[in-house]
Amino acid sequence: MILSWKVAIVPENQQSYPNSTIKTLMTRRSIRRFSPEPIEDDTIVWLERAAQQAPTSRYNFGWSAIRITDPDLAQKLADIGKQKYIAQAPLLYVFLVDLHRNSRISQGKGVSPAEATAFHEQYSYNESHNDAVLALHAMETAAESLGLGTVVLGSLLNDMPRLVELLHLPELTFPVLGLAIGKPAQQPALKPRMDRSFQFFDNAYPEDGDNTNLAEALTDFDEKVHQYYDLRNAKKPVDRFTDQVAQKATDPLPAQRRFSTLMRQQGFTA
Ligand SMILES: Cc1cc2nc3c(=O)[nH]c(=O)nc-3n(C[C@H](O)[C@H](O)[C@H](O)COP(=O)(O)O)c2cc1C
Repeated sequence: MILSWKVAIVPENQQSYPNSTIKTLMTRRSIRRFSPEPIEDDTIVWLERAAQQAPTSRYNFGWSAIRITDPDLAQKLADIGKQKYIAQAPLLYVFLVDLHRNSRISQGKGVSPAEATAFHEQYSYNESHNDAVLALHAMETAAESLGLGTVVLGSLLNDMPRLVELLHLPELTFPVLGLAIGKPAQQPALKPRMDRSFQFFDNAYPEDGDNTNLAEALTDFDEKVHQYYDLRNAKKPVDRFTDQVAQKATDPLPAQRRFSTLMRQQGFTA
């Protein structure tokens, strides 16, 4: 109770934080330009250990990550993502759903592939996907806490079949997200967040029935977003959030981003 009272009175531009972990989380923003300096080996070990220490559903360790050290491969990933900073990041990982390892472990214990149906279930996929995201986030936060910059890379999923091919992903694995890490070579402003009342509810999801037009209710937030400058295109103000949402609502999803075919190819029930 005391904590929520404190949080409630903290102004938005608060410069002092209850501790360094919260400061790290509250000052995080995506970094898309990195200094070419390599990341020290010791640091990499801590980042990987932090990812491994993340919670893992049913103690499954249902995820793996591939570190990309080959510059040609990094360039191919940047081509898929259409983002040149992917190839410029000194440290680059692709996090995966990985039930292949547990399938092999169970085979080593005498369970035949035909018997091991559980690995192929959508639930198992989802569980491992959650694990992978939590591990990535732990690595991201660890990196931020050390003064490094990061950006999560969903753009690698622009062409999932190609990613599977380039990374030689076997059955029961699936790409989740990339994470680029490096010393920041830019200082972007914090990107605005909507008021917490739009994202946090008490006990149940609020009824729609009060005729609130959510797009109108978000006018103040829209203005903040419009005033934010994205360093990727600093000359153009960012579109209002509600306009972005409406525009994305009708964006067609390219075939290479559709899950079901590739899910089946990788051995999951789709
Ligand atoms: C799942 C996920 C995928 C993302 N993919 C990309 C990406 O491919 N490229 C990129 O530049 N940023 C990517 N981002 C970063 C978001 O654009 C960014 O977090 C969001 O605009 C908020 O900005 P901030 O991180 O600076 O607060 C991704 C973020 C998430 C959570």
